Amino acid sequence: MEKVVKPYSEEGEKKNQVRKMFNSIAPAYDFLNHFLSLGIDRSWRKKAIQKLEASQAKKILDVATGTGDLAITAHNLLEVDHITGVDISDEMLEVGRKKLTKKNLNDKIVLLNGDSENLPFEDGTFDAAIVAFGVRNFQNLDKGLTEMSRVIKPGGKMVVLEFTKPRFFLFKFGFNLYFKYVLPLIGRLTSKDPKAYRYLYESVQAFPDYDKFVSHMEKAGLKNNEWESLSMGICAVYTGVK
Ligand SMILES: C[S@@+](CC[C@H](N)C(=O)[O-])C[C@H]1O[C@@H](n2cnc3c(N)ncnc32)[C@H](O)[C@@H]1O
Repeated sequence: MEKVVKPYSEEGEKKNQVRKMFNSIAPAYDFLNHFLSLGIDRSWRKKAIQKLEASQAKKILDVATGTGDLAITAHNLLEVDHITGVDISDEMLEVGRKKLTKKNLNDKIVLLNGDSENLPFEDGTFDAAIVAFGVRNFQNLDKGLTEMSRVIKPGGKMVVLEFTKPRFFLFKFGFNLYFKYVLPLIGRLTSKDPKAYRYLYESVQAFPDYDKFVSHMEKAGLKNNEWESLSMGICAVYTGVK
């Protein structure tokens, strides 16, 4: 049984705690993302979207879209007709909507409040479903993945980008020092939520990665599942086909 890590307390629904946490860090989220990853997060999102290049997907769903960075990357790299982003945090969505307005992308990307575990779309609505750094935050991982699979067309692709635990021991040691101690300290000083970046470390440690995550994709009905490790195992991009 995989351990469920929640942001604030072992008591109470994970979903409510996750929503509260992202609502509180939303104003600092983009800055901290790029600062703490030294900008490498942009290349991870690009790598994930490149997995869709051959599929010619025109209508895409970005789950746990947050401030919309993965959706914007998809728009920039692919020839898409429309992207819908859903998230449970209104504050994250608000930051994202302001970004879309600034970039003049409101007719291409729409951001809606929606729960990955109960998506408000008919079966087979999208050509592809994508998610970056979202699945680890789902309350019920299998329900979220099954819903994502439900709303893509048969033959459609799913792409998941998520943190993993580095395996190479020397790198793992150095990275864990940064991830466990330095990053939560910077997060605490800048985001006004002392627990958020501690949750980031703990949730990654408890989350199924590599083949274990692939077994959840299989359970959700996806085939040809594969993963590719990025940046010495800091994260991985998973792909599967419905
Ligand atoms: C780490 S952020 C990732 C945002 C964005 N995808 C990115 O690449 O920066 C995780 C997001 O997942 C959202 N989230 C968590 N559980 C969710 C759920 N059940 N349904 C939809 N969004 C969810 C959170 O509100 C948060 O905005």
